[in-house]
Amino acid sequence: MKTIISGIQPTGNLHLGNYLGTLAKWNEYQTEYKCFFPIVDLHAITAGFINKETFKNNIYKSLAAYLATGLDPKKSIIFQQSNIAEHCELFWILSNIAQMGKLNRMTQFKSKSPENQQHAVLGLYAYPVLMAADIILYNADLVPVGEDQIQHIELTNDIIGSFNHHYQENILKNIQPLLQNSSKRIMSLRNGENKMSKSEESDMSRINLTDSKELIHKKILKAKTDLYYNLDQDLDKRPETQNLVNIFSSLTKESEIDIQKQYRSQGLKKFKQDLAEIIIEHITPIGKAMNEYYNDKNYLDNILSNGKSKASEYAERNLNNIKNIIGMI
Ligand code: AMP
Ligand code: TRP
Repeated sequence: MKTIISGIQPTGNLHLGNYLGTLAKWNEYQTEYKCFFPIVDLHAITAGFINKETFKNNIYKSLAAYLATGLDPKKSIIFQQSNIAEHCELFWILSNIAQMGKLNRMTQFKSKSPENQQHAVLGLYAYPVLMAADIILYNADLVPVGEDQIQHIELTNDIIGSFNHHYQENILKNIQPLLQNSSKRIMSLRNGENKMSKSEESDMSRINLTDSKELIHKKILKAKTDLYYNLDQDLDKRPETQNLVNIFSSLTKESEIDIQKQYRSQGLKKFKQDLAEIIIEHITPIGKAMNEYYNDKNYLDNILSNGKSKASEYAERNLNNIKNIIGMI
């Protein structure tokens, strides 16, 4: 059975981009693969330390989202990354393989660092190496992520290649991204050039999984579009409208061409109204379940504690294996 790992940073409300880009598929993998789903809080602190209560609550929120979208702690290993110390230990080992020249090419570092690069923290720069450690620690084969993470997967394979080459053994397995072919990157509702993200200031730029019906409706009707009346003209030059068609198609599984045909004579307003209804139908049940899980902290604590003991078994064994090859033990 192949192994899968994927995680989301607990940095606030999860949104439609997280859902369509990755979460929506995770529950389907559970029967076919051995699955590890960490809540990657060590990655979250690369964006800066925050209030203690908010930090803890963000972890609960992410866990609630994992459960509400169908992850089952009986089938998958769901845990908090910082509970397993081996992530940091392997990170350090890999830091001595990962080359700065490769890290310099990572676009996420560039886009997330402050304007004055001298103020960017080491953790943000080293972030992809910690991600490589997450993946290698569980001997994963496949990593389901959104398109924006491909660079990090390639870096992980580079590190694996260098390690294997040095020790002349095929000890670490190459990994593959598992992209969802149905949905590309979901973009901001305010600017079709930026991805939908938790960190964009305006809440109108994203659909959060916990948004109410009314709010979803308002956000979609106010979503930026353009001066064209129809959907079937020059869509490739209209990033905001293209994004809405992509969301429609990802949720309904209808092809973009069919959607364009369907709305040819109906105009953008009708399209937006229907899109809002489709999003509401998919998202509000998830939001409701998230709130229910979020309010049961005992249950959530229990899942994290079980996840910790299960994950640590694998982490300990695999790290020891690597340390053995290096000659540390
Ligand atoms: P993050 O919110 O950056 O921790 O991302 C968690 C997961 O959601 C990753 O696999 C990302 O690739 C995916 N993701 C985040 N934002 C988007 C987006 N706007 N469109 C598609 N996938 C996304
Ligand atoms: N870097 C990923 C993101 O921002 C999150 C992540 C951390 C991850 N470790 C991982 C994803 C390991 C897959 C596997 O979305």
